[in-house]
Amino acid sequence: MNRQDMMDHARQVMTDNDRGTYTVPTHGLYPFQWNWDSALSALGFSQYDEPRAWTEIDTLMAHQWDDGMVPHIIFHQPDDGYFPGPDVWGTGRDVPTTGITQPPVAGFAVCRIHDRAKDKALASEKARALLPKIHAWHQWFYRSRDPQSTGLVALLHPWESGRDNSVDWDAAFERVPTEGVGTFTRRDTTHANPAHRPTDDQYRRYIWLVQKFRSLNWDNSKLHDASPFQMVDPGFNAILIRSCHKVADLAGRLGMVEIAAQSRAMADKGVAAMETLWDEKLGQYLCLDRTTGDVVDSPSIGGILGVFAPIPKERAAAISRRIETLAESCEYLIPSHDPAAPEFEGLRYWRGPVWLIVNYMISDGLEQAGETRMVDRIMGDCLRLIETSGFAEYHDPITAEPCGGAHFTWTAAMVIEILETHKVAA
Ligand code: GLC
Repeated sequence: MNRQDMMDHARQVMTDNDRGTYTVPTHGLYPFQWNWDSALSALGFSQYDEPRAWTEIDTLMAHQWDDGMVPHIIFHQPDDGYFPGPDVWGTGRDVPTTGITQPPVAGFAVCRIHDRAKDKALASEKARALLPKIHAWHQWFYRSRDPQSTGLVALLHPWESGRDNSVDWDAAFERVPTEGVGTFTRRDTTHANPAHRPTDDQYRRYIWLVQKFRSLNWDNSKLHDASPFQMVDPGFNAILIRSCHKVADLAGRLGMVEIAAQSRAMADKGVAAMETLWDEKLGQYLCLDRTTGDVVDSPSIGGILGVFAPIPKERAAAISRRIETLAESCEYLIPSHDPAAPEFEGLRYWRGPVWLIVNYMISDGLEQAGETRMVDRIMGDCLRLIETSGFAEYHDPITAEPCGGAHFTWTAAMVIEILETHKVAA
C-alpha cells in the first residue's frame, strides 16, 4: 500500500463512521459517540476538513454536565447492540449519557487544531467558545477527583482511563464487589472475539461500580470518597496536564487572562506531583492506588504515556530508553503491557496490544523533548502495522494480528495525522 492508498483508505473509514455531527468509533461494536475517540478523531478530520473537525468537538462539549464533567459516552440514538446502555446508567439526561468521564484530550486537540488551522477566523471563533467549557471540565477534575489537592486526579472506574482492562487495575479491582449485580448479556462479545475482550468477572465489577454511583445520583461531590476504586494513573494525569498546559498558552494568546493563569497553575502543580509516581528502577511512571496508598508495580503503557506531559527532559530520555527495552521483546512498538511480564496477553485489549492513539500521544511527548529518533521508529511501526493488518482497533505487538473492531475511526485519524506530519517510510 503506498502513502496515497493508505490516506484514501483512512479517509474512507472516517467517512463510513461519520454520523453527520459526530463519529462512531466503529459500526456495530461502538454505535455512539465516545469522548476521547472524538477528540482524537477531530485531529484527523482537521487535516482535510476543518469545519467538520470543529463540529466533532462542538457536539462532544454540547453534552457537558452542569458541574463541568464531560461524559464518556453520548447515546445520541437508541441501539440495542450495546451493553450497558442508557437504562443501566440512569443519568436522567435529555440526550442520555454515561455518568463517568474519559481522558481529557479534547483541550489538547482544540489547541492543536487551532494553531495549525488554515481558516484562522473560524479557528479563533471556535477556540474562544470552547476554551471556557474545556477549562470548566479541567477544574471539575481537580475539584471532584483530587479532593485533598495533591495535584493528581483519581479515576473511579477503569472505563474512565480509556485502558479498560489494563493489568494496572487488577489488584485494586479485586476489592470491587460483585454482590447485587444481576444477570446481564454482554454485547461486545457478539461483535468481537471474546478472547480479545475483558472477562465476565471484570464486567460484573464494572457494572457494580456503575450501580454504586447511580445509587448516589451521580453526585460528583460524593462519588470520589464513596468509591472502592480510586486510581491515580500517570497517563491519564499526563493528558490532563498537557491539555491544561496547551490551554494556558492559547488562552493567553487570545487574551483570556483568567483561564490562562488558572490553567498554568493546574499544569505546574500537576507536573511537580507527577514526580511522586516516577519509578527509577523501571525508568517510567507507575500508578498509585489511592485507597491503599500503594504504588502499583505494573509495567504498563500508562506510565510511559506520562511523557505526554511537559515533564523534565531527563525523564523523557529515560522513557525513550524504556521503550528501547520493550522493543527487544516485540516486533511493533509500543505494547500496552511489557511482553516480558507474566500478565502480558498480546491479543487482549489493553493487556498487551498496540494502540495507535497511545503511540501518537507518546510520540508527541517524545518529540517535545527532542527524542526524535524514537519518534520516527514508533511512527514507522504504526504504518507497518496498518499496512500489514489494516485499520483495526488494536494489534498484537508480536504478530500484528488485527484485534477488536475493524474499520476503526481513531486508528484512521491517527494514520492521517502520521502521514501528514511525519516523513517516515510507509
Ligand atoms: C474501548 C476502549 C476505550 C475507547 C472505546 C471506544 O472501550 O477501551 O478507550 O474509548 O472502546 O473506542
